[in-house]
Amino acid sequence: MSEATRVRTSLLLAATEDDVIGRDNDLPWHLPTDMRRFKALTAGHVVVVGRRTHESILSRLGRPLPGRITIVVTRQAGRPGEGPIIYQSSVPAALSVARAIEGFAGRDEVFVIGGAQIYTEALPEADTVYLTRVNAHVEGDAWMPKGWLDGFRLADKEHGPAGEELSYAFERYERG
Ligand SMILES: NC(=O)c1ccc[n+]([C@@H]2O[C@H](COP(=O)([O-])OP(=O)(O)OC[C@H]3O[C@@H](n4cnc5c(N)ncnc54)[C@H](OP(=O)(O)O)[C@@H]3O)[C@@H](O)[C@H]2O)c1
Repeated sequence: MSEATRVRTSLLLAATEDDVIGRDNDLPWHLPTDMRRFKALTAGHVVVVGRRTHESILSRLGRPLPGRITIVVTRQAGRPGEGPIIYQSSVPAALSVARAIEGFAGRDEVFVIGGAQIYTEALPEADTVYLTRVNAHVEGDAWMPKGWLDGFRLADKEHGPAGEELSYAFERYERG
C-alpha cells in the first residue's frame, strides 16, 4: 500500500426499522446469510468492538473471531492483549491502532462491529455504514441513537434471502 492510501472506517451492523440492535447482550435474531456476509466482509481485516459485545462473541463462539485482529474497547486499563486481541481504553485510540495495523498489512478498511456504545462513539469517524435492515419489530434493550444516519446517503441496496426467520435487506451508506 502506498503511503497515500487511506484506511477507511466502516460500521457493520444489523438493525430493525426502529433501530433495535440487541437484547440481553446478544443478537435478537439468527440470520445465517447475514452472518456469512459479516464473515466475508470482515475476513482478514481489523475489527473494533466494545467489551460487552466481545464477551458476547466469546460466549457464542468460545473464542475470538478467527482470521481477524480484534481491538476491544474497555475502561479496564492495562489489560494485556493476548493472541489476536488488543485492548484499548477509548474509541479514538482503538480506531487509530486499527488503522495503523490495517495500513501496515497493506489493507484499507477497518470495521466497527458494535455494540451500541461503540457504534455511537465511532459514528463521527465512519466513512461507510453496512446496514442489514431487518423488516420487523423486535423487543430489545440496545438501540442505535436517534438520527444516526443523518449525513449519510444510501449508496446500495440489495434484498436479503427468503426463508429465514425475518426478512431483511443489505444497505450500504456513504458519508455525504
Ligand atoms: N445488531 C448488531 O449488528 C449488533 C452488533 C454488535 C453488538 N450488538 C448488540 O449490542 C449490545 C451490546 O452493546 P452495548 O452498548 O451494551 O455494549 P458495547 O458497545 O459492546 O460495549 C460497551 C463497553 O465498551 C466499553 N466502552 C464504551 N465506551 C467506552 C469509552 N468511551 N472508553 C472506554 N471504554 C468504553 C466499556 O467497557 P468496560 O465496561 O469494560 O469498561 C463498555 O461497558 C448487545 O446486545 C449486542 O448483541 C448488535
